[in-house]
Amino acid sequence: THKSLSPIKLDWQSLPGLPARAPDSHKGSHGHVLVLGGASGMGGASALCAWAAYRAGAGLVSVGCHPDSRMHLAAWVPEALSLDWPGTLSSWSRPGVVIAIGPGMGQGLGAQTLLEEAVALSVPQVLDADALNLLAIRGPGLLAAGPVRLLTPHPGEAARLLGLDTRSVQADRPAAVLNLARRYRAICILKGHQTLISDGERVRQCELGNPGMASGGTGDVLTGILAALLAQQLAPWDAACLGVCLHARAGDLAAERLGQTSLMARDLIEFLPTAFKDYA
Ligand code: APR
Ligand code: MG
Repeated sequence: THKSLSPIKLDWQSLPGLPARAPDSHKGSHGHVLVLGGASGMGGASALCAWAAYRAGAGLVSVGCHPDSRMHLAAWVPEALSLDWPGTLSSWSRPGVVIAIGPGMGQGLGAQTLLEEAVALSVPQVLDADALNLLAIRGPGLLAAGPVRLLTPHPGEAARLLGLDTRSVQADRPAAVLNLARRYRAICILKGHQTLISDGERVRQCELGNPGMASGGTGDVLTGILAALLAQQLAPWDAACLGVCLHARAGDLAAERLGQTSLMARDLIEFLPTAFKDYA
């Protein structure tokens, strides 16, 4: 089989970025990320996502999680607001809100209801982890046309979404990311070594990052970064490309200082400010 296309490599330093903050801006000017996840025993995933969203500039971050996770969340990320789920989401359909759904969400009944409610809102959405696993079961019909959506599968999740095995996805990653974007009418980010991004027309490749990032929770950090960039009104395609590169650059900076072996998800959050500074 031939390779369907060769993606263009991203020159991350020349990607369009966030505008400078107006001197009189306030937290309401920089968007509100709503993280939906954190089922019982998996609160850490939503905490990493929320923490990363703040580090990536979101004005406010709220987390909808299982009651078991709320006390932990308050200790891990005191800046975040928390609410119980499942609860009704209708009040979140307002300008400035971006939903990040999936980290640590689980696939139980509550999670299914939550996903249905979230994708019905008109605000931008980042779907990750168990949101993608549930979407794979429901199929593209779950995503009615409308809001901007970013999908962030790792190869295993991509395989479920495409009805393939992981090996086939990895055998032609550019084709997989393009097909995902078309089938689900979303910007798709296929993670792993040399992450690919597609909107169904273009395919771009991020050359940054390292295998030290193969460690639990690093994907949750990416989800938070992407949601924060969208919440700050960056164009969706630019948010996807810049978010992937900042995350990977933070991973390279962290690996330089700490080594690939010791690198863990929280280190990406710690090095994100330096990644932002290098970029500017
Ligand atoms: N080189 C560069 N980057 C890498 C490499 C590598 N070799 N390996 C992993 N990464 C990056 C990926 O590109 C991605 O950004 O690390 C991140 C890993 O994300 P996930 O695979 O989603 O891992 P994780 O955060 O642990 O996921 C948490 O969600 O997706 C589910 O099954 C997953 O339950 C788990 C949970
Ligand atoms: Mg993941």
